[in-house]
Amino acid sequence: MAKRTIVTMPGDGIGKVVLDQCIRVLDAAGFEAEYVKGDIGWEFWCAEGNPLPDRTVKLLEEHKIGLFGAITSKPKDKTASELAPELQGKGFTYYSPIVSMRQHFDLDICMRPCKTLKGNPLNFIRRGKEGIIEEPEVDVMIFRQNTEGLYGGVEWTNPSDQVYDALMTHPKFRANFGWCPRPELAVSTRIFTKKYVTRIVKAAFEYAKSRGFGKITVCEKPNVIRETSGMMLKVAQEMSKADYPDIWVEDVNIDAMTMWLTKSPENYNVIVAGNMFGDIVSDAFAGLIGGLGFATSAQFNPETGVSVFEPTHGSAPKYAGYDISIVNPIAMILSGVMMLEHLGEMEMAARIRKAIADVVAEGKVKAYDMMKMKGTPDVINQGAASTIQMADAIIAKLG
Ligand code: NAI
Ligand code: MG
Repeated sequence: MAKRTIVTMPGDGIGKVVLDQCIRVLDAAGFEAEYVKGDIGWEFWCAEGNPLPDRTVKLLEEHKIGLFGAITSKPKDKTASELAPELQGKGFTYYSPIVSMRQHFDLDICMRPCKTLKGNPLNFIRRGKEGIIEEPEVDVMIFRQNTEGLYGGVEWTNPSDQVYDALMTHPKFRANFGWCPRPELAVSTRIFTKKYVTRIVKAAFEYAKSRGFGKITVCEKPNVIRETSGMMLKVAQEMSKADYPDIWVEDVNIDAMTMWLTKSPENYNVIVAGNMFGDIVSDAFAGLIGGLGFATSAQFNPETGVSVFEPTHGSAPKYAGYDISIVNPIAMILSGVMMLEHLGEMEMAARIRKAIADVVAEGKVKAYDMMKMKGTPDVINQGAASTIQMADAIIAKLG
């Protein structure tokens, strides 16, 4: 079989460090691929005025599968001052390259798994009957709509006449906001389309079906946000009736969800939500299974097949300059595992998952976050594993 080509996009800071370790683990598991490097991140903003150069977009168009580390974004004043002097004042505008990539490729389906690894000292615990400490097993996949909603970018401060006049046709806007001077008005829209709502809901049902779960949870707020949240709930209920009669649709509001997930996280396996609520609820669940060192995601377009796999964490610039890297590579390695699963390499993926689970369960090799330490260079002297040692331990378990 022809070798697959994977576009690696290390990005900035620790993105570079963890991606290298992920590839070492993939190699050790026997995954045969050619890797081509895609430029992305702050250094390309500074040097070229574009953090997602066209050549990287072309690579993804051609090869379709991307493994991404993390990028650095900085506040507005820095985007201007750090741009190469010859590019300054030439009209370059900074956009987050991740958001640009999601929008360009329409990577509307985002899957964020949160699954307990037994023995992880960071796992959520609670007090049960008679004071007994319980460690419920979390096994949830969050389906986050990745391109629309509040992150769709349709927003204004001091809206134009046309926009303002249109808003004024809404009785609630007139009654509740009509008093506000226009320059003091900021509006961010929450747009859902039936096409993309249907796609994310269907992805959730398909996953539930494949794993044998009898329920999906719509995590929105349809009692208040009647149009958009209401659309998602309705689509889910109709789809259940028509196509998935054995899977029922549970309706849990986002605010209630953030309470329920620390009371009984084991009750949820498949959650579907819009962009912002999906972002929130996936971070909240990630906190129950160890946080950023363990949280990962896949995003893809089911029509074109373009897929990008990445850890949830950012570039953690503070940690990027350490002589010995201390950050936990597990989130990035799990992104690689999701890529393997997407490519149908189930046996290899399962072996890496087991190796990670074994290392964590054994508890001999722990990154600093698993030791609840502050992330200083000194953690190595205090017994924490380096990034490379963590990857080494996982590779050793692969046998
Ligand atoms: P961050 O995720 O980079 O780091 C926050 C903290 O989490 C770190 O200080 C560290 O204590 C911990 N942490 C992160 N990754 C870890 C790992 N693998 N192992 C152990 N601990 C880990 O978020 P922050 O500091 O808010 O942002 C830093 C930069 O990253 C910013 O420029 C931000 O814009 C960017 N960012 C990029 C993202 C992406 O590329 N997808 C996502 C989030 C932030
Ligand atoms: Mg987030």
